[in-house]
Amino acid sequence: MIHQPALPTHMRQVVTRGPGGVDVLEMSEGLLPTPAADEVLIRVAAAGVNRPDIMQREGRYPPPANASPLMGLEVAGMVVAAGAAVSSYAIGDQVTALTNGGGYAQYAVAPATQCLPWPDGYDAVRAAAIPENYFTVWANLMVHGRLTAGESVLVHGGSSGIGVTTIQLARAFGATVYATAGTDMKCAACRALGAADAFNYRDVDFADALLAATGGTGVDVIIDMVGAPYFAQNLRCLRLDGRLVEVATQLGAKVADFNLAAVMQKRLVITGSTMRPRTSAEKGGIARALRQQVWPLLSAGQAGPVVHAVFPLEEVAAAHRLLESSAHIGKVMLQVSD
Ligand SMILES: NC(=O)c1ccc[n+]([C@@H]2O[C@H](COP(=O)([O-])OP(=O)(O)OC[C@H]3O[C@@H](n4cnc5c(N)ncnc54)[C@H](OP(=O)(O)O)[C@@H]3O)[C@@H](O)[C@H]2O)c1
Repeated sequence: MIHQPALPTHMRQVVTRGPGGVDVLEMSEGLLPTPAADEVLIRVAAAGVNRPDIMQREGRYPPPANASPLMGLEVAGMVVAAGAAVSSYAIGDQVTALTNGGGYAQYAVAPATQCLPWPDGYDAVRAAAIPENYFTVWANLMVHGRLTAGESVLVHGGSSGIGVTTIQLARAFGATVYATAGTDMKCAACRALGAADAFNYRDVDFADALLAATGGTGVDVIIDMVGAPYFAQNLRCLRLDGRLVEVATQLGAKVADFNLAAVMQKRLVITGSTMRPRTSAEKGGIARALRQQVWPLLSAGQAGPVVHAVFPLEEVAAAHRLLESSAHIGKVMLQVSD
């Protein structure tokens, strides 16, 4: 391992005192992680807060075996050490990384294949706001959803980190996008980001509204994060050869009564995926696609994270409270000081 001199042995990190509410979060001192042969050690300047972190804190999304038990799926910072097999990054490089966990700390490791350079003009907070959303949306919208130019998309939770990224990428790749969100202000934000229209699901039946907006034809791809209660309505909203892509089941995963005839009649594909359990090789493949096809858009300002709020690492409880309130539009971030 190539090593920068004078690295401390210990770091500040966020731990949980067992599963529960924000009161289980606390700062503690832990040992610096040691990078494996294919990993880099990053001095974290900023980390993203994502809905899966809340689920992990609550004990509903345990980290995979061999992953850090700490929360934090994305970071940006400087490489301060590299494993023997790493040739793509060197000490001093500024990277943003999809971690396998452990981002809520002063130092974190990530496989080099899951790192990317900061897009032009980005600072640490904006760079750290990219990985979880862009890796997830690329995989689900472009790979599993097989979106092509000229098609149309409906994304639920359009003002979430995932939703904002879906609107921007779908637009950038030539699709027409519709969104749902829970307030008129969030719907306005979705339209400002490029959605052709957005529907407040608390006021209107989203399927009626979407079908009216599309002249009754519906859309080619749906990115769903609501789950079972939306299933029948989602199928109604898909056109011939449509793809329903599940990225979360926030309101339930089990569909009780399902008529397979709809799938046959419209030749539908029902798919979905989770990012965290994928292998480093799979995540590395997504990173390469992002670098080639999305990094130029980020550097040119044609897409990019919307940062709603930034908290110091020590105020992680306030950051979790904000994300849980769903008052945010875009990303909630943590800034990590030396
Ligand atoms: N599959 C994967 O690999 C993967 C990876 C990352 C995240 N995710 C999932 O993707 C979702 C978004 O993640 P995030 O980090 O971007 O979280 P987030 O910003 O907290 O977003 C959650 C969103 O869900 C929306 N929502 C809740 N009920 C809704 C409903 N009935 N209709 C429409 N929207 C509804 C909320 O919007 P309103 O307040 O407006 O309702 C909120 O914007 C989470 O469920 C997360 O677990 C999946």
